[in-house]
Amino acid sequence: PETVCRDAVGRLVIGGVDVVSLASEFGTAAYVLDETDFRARARAFRDAFADSFTGGADVYYAGKAFLCTEVARWVAEEGLNLDVCTGGELAVAIRAGFPGKRIALHGNNKSSSEIRRALEYGVGRIVLDSFDEIVRVDTIARELGVVAPVMIRVTVGVEAHTHEFIATGHEDQKFGFSLADGVAREAADRVVAHPDTMSLKGFHSHIGSQIFDTTGFELAARRLVQLHADVVHATGADLPEIDLGGGYGIAYTSQHTPLAPGQLAEQLAGIVEREFKAIGTGDGTATPRVSIEPGRAIAGPSGVTLYEVGTIKDVGLGEGFSRRYVSVDGGMSDNIRPALYEADYSVTLGSRSSDAAPRLARVVGRHCESGDIVVLDEYLPDDLAIGDLLVVPGTGAYCRSMSNQYNHTPRPPVIAVRDGQARVLVRRETIDDLLALDVG
Ligand code: LLP
Repeated sequence: PETVCRDAVGRLVIGGVDVVSLASEFGTAAYVLDETDFRARARAFRDAFADSFTGGADVYYAGKAFLCTEVARWVAEEGLNLDVCTGGELAVAIRAGFPGKRIALHGNNKSSSEIRRALEYGVGRIVLDSFDEIVRVDTIARELGVVAPVMIRVTVGVEAHTHEFIATGHEDQKFGFSLADGVAREAADRVVAHPDTMSLKGFHSHIGSQIFDTTGFELAARRLVQLHADVVHATGADLPEIDLGGGYGIAYTSQHTPLAPGQLAEQLAGIVEREFKAIGTGDGTATPRVSIEPGRAIAGPSGVTLYEVGTIKDVGLGEGFSRRYVSVDGGMSDNIRPALYEADYSVTLGSRSSDAAPRLARVVGRHCESGDIVVLDEYLPDDLAIGDLLVVPGTGAYCRSMSNQYNHTPRPPVIAVRDGQARVLVRRETIDDLLALDVG
């Protein structure tokens, strides 16, 4: 987070609270979320997009990155909307009192009960993902006597330059309706044919995640605008919105330079406005409202994980070489991303400063597999010792939300820091929590 600094005795300070105090009050491993930083990032997206689009813009925070009741409240207070993709995330939003109209429900296999709950709560958008779902929403909306506001997720055929598992814009994958063979058009026709149960608000695309190059977004936007104009033209439907999804990359290490929200908004606005001008002339196609769905770019940089060093092992590699393995009290249960995507992180000594020479080390977790890596290669002070605290930045997104209890490891708490105060947002799981589920 932007608020990180060191105090007079060399301890790392986050949101005005030093990590030694955090560890002694809340224990380790722990996720620490900087509220000021999170809110500032949310606002930066909201302001940049509101200022750039003539038709107006909405920013949906993608809750899959990290969601809990308090964070949903921050998102609401900062004037953002919320993207949820399961009944679980929707339940958090409802508990936080998040305004229904500002929620979009995603998912490629939403259950009938999830759709029903969303419609009862009055969500602003259900993003349709399959022909089966069109039938399902039609049936449920009819039963409830409501008109469901819907969008259609389109597979725009853009392959984002990112890790294969998180690229979702190319054709051969499970999400959305393909642009090819008129499939997305067919979906629109079916929705428009049921005006008593569904109201089509527009098209949606999400091309992938951790993307730095705007080319993919531009291409996706062009294709979406074209489809939008075709459907408006052919059906006379009034589509008020276009959703370009999320996926904006963050700097996990110094190798990456993230796109600034202002720069991103300007570039996307340029494309969308230009395309609409080119296509819209003559047939009255007005520029719709544009929405985006950043998750990682808001939550990621705002969070760090705090670990304590438990063992240090220098393993001989022959010919006088050795590798230093530093084991911490967490690992692939609180951050699965290195194991899943070969994701790279950095790590710093947080409990003190050190003048010792830097030494290359591998920071590993406490789980029973050798792929349980926290940071593959990092220079840490040679005098690193048991009990030192290590801090891994950039863990605010997709770490707690993808955490697991592998090896019966209770999950760490989420602590919010702000203006020198710390408070628990999600409490630490206990062995008793885990045993309580085991009813045998
Ligand atoms: N909108 C939709 C429809 C999405 O599917 C996603 C992410 C987002 C928005 C937010 O994307 P973001 O701005 O956070 O990149 N677990 C992976 C990331 C998977 C993202 C899936 N969808 C990871 O840890 O990198």
